[in-house]
Amino acid sequence: MSNRRKFIKGGILGAVGAAIFPKIALSEGKKNPHSTNGFPMVISTWSHGIPANEAAMKVLLKGGSAIDAVEAGVRVPEADPESMSVGYGGLPDRDGHVTLDACIMDHTGNCGSVSFLQHIKHPISVARKVMEKTPHVMLSGAGALKFALDNGFPKEDLLTDKARKRWEEWLKDSQYKPIINVENHDTIGLLALDQNGDISGACTTSGLSYKMHGRVGDSPIIGAGMFVDNEVGGCCATGVGEAVMKTLGSFLIVELMRQGASPQEACEEGIARIVKNQNYRDMQIGYLAINKQGEHGAYSVHPWFNYALHQGGSSELIDSPFYIQK
Ligand code: GLY
Repeated sequence: MSNRRKFIKGGILGAVGAAIFPKIALSEGKKNPHSTNGFPMVISTWSHGIPANEAAMKVLLKGGSAIDAVEAGVRVPEADPESMSVGYGGLPDRDGHVTLDACIMDHTGNCGSVSFLQHIKHPISVARKVMEKTPHVMLSGAGALKFALDNGFPKEDLLTDKARKRWEEWLKDSQYKPIINVENHDTIGLLALDQNGDISGACTTSGLSYKMHGRVGDSPIIGAGMFVDNEVGGCCATGVGEAVMKTLGSFLIVELMRQGASPQEACEEGIARIVKNQNYRDMQIGYLAINKQGEHGAYSVHPWFNYALHQGGSSELIDSPFYIQK
């Protein structure tokens, strides 16, 4: 039986998928032509994924683990002030505070996350410490900051002059209009498949620019912004976190792959769940997924979502297929 047929026949999720999936797959979006196999591989969201993937691949090519690779990878945009929706240099909330969300998950199902964390340049490394040194999954706000400081992370001012100036410009109108792509949003989600065939994932962001103070998005929520099940594959998300949280998108997509969907089919179904019930015209959401064979999928609501793929010795930036035709 083909994977596709197993997917349709498989369980409740399979039945739901069968009901919705064909409409989406055959509708406006195009099939992803860039499905290559093989590992090690690294895939991540947006163009800042290119240097992130390079750093992650360096770890993998030395025989390092996927968990070390994903952390090393996303630390690159976290430290880059030009990545204005991740870590240092991230655009602040409407009150001028840079607040960060991140999560990490390894091939054994261990995971850690931080939300509403301020003053720490590398929230992904704090999330990893939460995973490794505490009995918890998530620390938030002042508690997360205290934990970071106790563990030797330096306290830093993350608001750069460039980000401050953009915020001051925004304050003149203080309009909270959704802007659908990288102008507002470029969370990095990164998935790696190491030489042992093990998968890990990481996701880190300063979230929606000019959000309400205290707002937390999907990126630190295991199963929403990112999810890994080493028997099946992994998924990460970018875009309007509220839409991803409402559908628990990354968990959904990994479960669909468990039912037999390819990464591409699963990503398309993840977007289908969003466009079915939510006002998708004003918001961008993009998913990336990989499976154990090193196949990948990508799909977004709108055009202009792109992703970086490092596999088979080549590193490239690829435009994702999408649901809406312009
Ligand atoms: N996807 C990141 C956020 O909504 O904060």
